[in-house]
Formats: sequence, structure tokens, C-alpha cells
Amino acid sequence: MNAVVNLKWIEAANYEEMSKLAADMFKAELKHNPKMVLGLATGGTPEGFYKELVEAYQAGEISFEQAQSYNLDEYVGINPTNEASYHYYMDQNLFNHVDMKRENIHVPKGDTADLQAAAAHYDEMIEAAGGVDIQLLGIGINGHIGFNEPGTPFTLGTNVVELTESTRDANKIYFNSIDEVPTYAITMGIQTIMNAKKVVLLISGASKQEAMDRLRSGEVTEDFPASALHNHKDVTVIYTGVK
Ligand code: PGA
Repeated sequence: MNAVVNLKWIEAANYEEMSKLAADMFKAELKHNPKMVLGLATGGTPEGFYKELVEAYQAGEISFEQAQSYNLDEYVGINPTNEASYHYYMDQNLFNHVDMKRENIHVPKGDTADLQAAAAHYDEMIEAAGGVDIQLLGIGINGHIGFNEPGTPFTLGTNVVELTESTRDANKIYFNSIDEVPTYAITMGIQTIMNAKKVVLLISGASKQEAMDRLRSGEVTEDFPASALHNHKDVTVIYTGVK
């Protein structure tokens, strides 16, 4: 079977619809399985998705009380209260507004002395939790998923990575200057992502057109990390503002 047909492509009319469609998939799973293990992502793309989840919680439609979450990645050398950290982003966009228990919230630890141990422990925790039910993903302009940059072996679990200049440049808007953007990060590996039962990939905006085209081509190569998803059996790509 042609790999491309494995991905389910949904074109959304606009950013709000993309966010809503993705949130609907998580809401449906959460209602059916209150102990859902959510795989979460940060960045500009999923902000609307989190808004939808918070609104659904506030409307009494869903509860996170028994759920748990695992985020994709975190910068190294930045603590969770730093406004540029992904933990802080998650607090602001979701965790501070819903009833998920703090002990059930997991973001890789980028501010620990033993990063390798933290990385190995992260995969053990996910496995002990029964695996991620739905993993949300964005995509970098270079095709990265999580912080798995081009060239990353598909076989890696959670690990410590050096960020490419392209990624540091794309993320400098969250810092005072590019010099402040961390050089290293801790990220779920491609293998960790592939272990999720279901994957939802969001693509929004013209800056992602090239990444979109490459994903659509169906070529599977470690030079383009998102292409690993062609080997996953349940991936939905929801896109808007790209062709
Ligand atoms: P973005 O980031 O949503 O801010 O574009 C996506 C990514 O780099 O994975």
C-alpha cells in the first residue's frame, strides 16, 4: 500500500475549525475513556486547540480529573516557572484552567542535573501509564516533530538533542534575543511518538507549505522527521492555510 494513503488528511476552513476538529477528537476519547493519557505539544499552532479544551471543561462537557498527560519536549536549562519554558506555556494554556491533577501532568525535565536519566525515566513512565492514547503534534518548517531535528534516527526514545539554527531562529520570538534561545532540549524520540495509539498532526499557515509538500510526497526519510508518521497506522493531519 502506498504510504501516503495511511495518513488521513482533513482540510479545515480556518484556524478555529482546525482547533475545534482536533479538540473534538480529544474530547471524544476523554468521554469514552476518562483515564485517557494525553500526548501534548506546545507552539503557536495548538493555542486554539487548548482554548477549545478549556472551554469544554468550563462548560462541564469534559473532565481531566482521572486523565494524565505527557508533553513532547522541553528546553534544557530553563525551569518550569520561566515564561519561555514549555511547562509554563502548558500551565498558561491548559493546566491552570482545568482539573488535571498536578501529579498526573508530565513535561520532560530540562532543568535537572541528570538529563539522560530523566529521558530514560520519561519513556518508562509513559509505558507504565499504558501508553499515550492520542498524541498531538505540530510540525517545524524543517519537518521536525517534537524537537526531533532532521537526521534523527527513527529508533530513538526520549533523548537530549541539540537544536538546529532553523529551530532556534523560529523560536526566538519567545525570547529577548536569539542568544537566549537554548541550544539543547529534551524530547520524546520518534519511537516514543510512534508508540502512541493515535496521532493528530496540526499544520497551519503558509510558512509550513514546504513541510506540507514534503509530507504529502510520501517519501520516508530520516532527513524529514515527520515522514516517520507514514509508518504509523492511525494519523490524522488537520491542516489550514496550506494547500
Ligand atoms: P509552531 O511550532 O506551532 O509554533 O509553528 C511547531 C513546531 O515547531 O513543532
